[in-house]
Amino acid sequence: MPVFEWNINYLIGIKEVDQHHQHLVSLLNDSYAECKKGMSAEKMTALIEELIDYADYHFSYEEGLMEEASYPDLPMHRREHELFAKQVREFQKGHQENKVPPISVLSFISNWVTHHIQQTDVRFGVYMDSRNIRRSSTPPPTSKS
Ligand SMILES: [Fe+2]
Repeated sequence: MPVFEWNINYLIGIKEVDQHHQHLVSLLNDSYAECKKGMSAEKMTALIEELIDYADYHFSYEEGLMEEASYPDLPMHRREHELFAKQVREFQKGHQENKVPPISVLSFISNWVTHHIQQTDVRFGVYMDSRNIRRSSTPPPTSKS
């Protein structure tokens, strides 16, 4: 069973962002599964690196959309992303020096992602909605004639 159960409460209603979040969650679940199997330290380090790189890529993408949409909370949102990047690099350093077990790194990322999507990203979805520029995650209803 995956550690991070994806459900519709994580959808913010912007297709690409939702797809990125789902990919992040599946990377997290894969990493947890490998961690439980007792994967080698080198492989675990590579997986964590992949997770962090993907998060960086996703944050840039999200911030680009926010800029495009003149999102007023962008500076605050960007600060959250930056803080995460800083904290996760510290965890990663600790892991590489064998001071932090991989499970702690994964659980930090997992908690942060859960909280950030549901508390912060969701507000961007609402903003896009209010401006009528939201990109739906679900296909439009089919018209029945
Ligand atoms: Fe975000």
